Amino acid sequence: MILENKRIILGVTGSIAVYKAVDLASKLTQAGAQVDVVMTEAALRFVTPLTFQSVTGRPVYTDLWQTDHSGGLPTHIAHIGLGEGADLLVVAPATANTIAKLAHGLADDLLSVIALAARCLLVIAPTMDGGMYEHPATQANLELLRERGAIIIEPDEGRFASGLIGKGRLPETLTLIGAIRQTLGSNGSLAGYKVVVTAGGTQEAIDPVRFITNRSSGKQGYALAQAALDAGAKVTLISTANTLSIPYGAEFVLAPSAADLLAAVQVQLADTDVLIMAAAVADFRPTATAEHKIKKSDDPDEGLTLSLVRTVDILATISHLPQRPKVVVGFAAESQDLLINAQSKLTRKKLDLIVANDISAIDAGFQVDTNRVVIIDTEGHQERLDLMTKTQVSEHIIQRISSLLQSSASHPA
Ligand code: CTP
Repeated sequence: MILENKRIILGVTGSIAVYKAVDLASKLTQAGAQVDVVMTEAALRFVTPLTFQSVTGRPVYTDLWQTDHSGGLPTHIAHIGLGEGADLLVVAPATANTIAKLAHGLADDLLSVIALAARCLLVIAPTMDGGMYEHPATQANLELLRERGAIIIEPDEGRFASGLIGKGRLPETLTLIGAIRQTLGSNGSLAGYKVVVTAGGTQEAIDPVRFITNRSSGKQGYALAQAALDAGAKVTLISTANTLSIPYGAEFVLAPSAADLLAAVQVQLADTDVLIMAAAVADFRPTATAEHKIKKSDDPDEGLTLSLVRTVDILATISHLPQRPKVVVGFAAESQDLLINAQSKLTRKKLDLIVANDISAIDAGFQVDTNRVVIIDTEGHQERLDLMTKTQVSEHIIQRISSLLQSSASHPA
């Protein structure tokens, strides 16, 4: 949603990493953004404008002086219009030379002219070989740009085209899009608020190799973290596993068991405004964890009885504390009496919202990408959402949380 109908100027400069910029332009376009690509002369040596034009479906601008449609602008002042109308200017890959020009206000080609005329946010992905990124001149230029509000995406470390190893590689598309989303959402409805999201099924250890867990994939929690980032929040994602890709910009904490999860949430409490407990927390754990792997004997008829004890209810514990976050949201995964059970959990756990989902449906709940939920508030109002992606469900929940924060006119912690 956040990329839909956004006007993004993608400045492409001369680097072998331009092939990744083609993928970026394509993914942004697929997500509904209007992408106008501006290429420098050096970029033209690596790839033709036709490549970008093919993925964006729009003209590609390369020349400050021509006013026709073969790389020039539609009118002699269009560079001003392009820059003024944009929601975001992204320079990826950004060479050391272009970074220097942007830092010092030079305007000797179309991209640098547009950058001066633009009034939108600027995202820069420094990309360069062989120690150029670490050079004090480049670092000073990046610092200048940062001071002026530009968002600098940290380059990846790895092997360069030259064979050298170091920092300066253009990150993968997912990271670039994450940074773009975060920048576009920076003034969103949760700007200034901190949101903690828990995700995944907890793992309760039996011995060093075995644990008890459940069917939760963590997908809904990760989608919620992304939706909160899109709304401008500072986000901490506490997850029971690290198998899904972490949304760009989220602080990540790994907390496998219910006890780890409780401790991790408590650490965050002081400055947290919103807690969303999407994790499927085990209600019971083994009474003791064996220090060594439990071995079977030679007796084929032997049995093994596990003794279990209750875990702490994290939500109930946190929401009854005096320093409770302003908004506390729980989930209710039910296979019967969905609304009655959810309503009772809302009251018992002192929640502001509960998201109820029927886990007996095959197209909703655990392990799939879609969900069908009912959001219940403290007044008993039930908002029934149709079957939709977990991303869409998350956007709804985040909107409800924003409204609660606004209606209580609360200020960030
Ligand atoms: N929850 C929690 N701590 C627990 C168990 C659950 O914080 N020890 C949270 C979950 O993250 C979820 C909500 O409580 O947001 C409801 O979880 P659910 O498993 O549906 O309910 P339970 O409280 O475990 O009750 P029951 O097992 O009887 O359905």
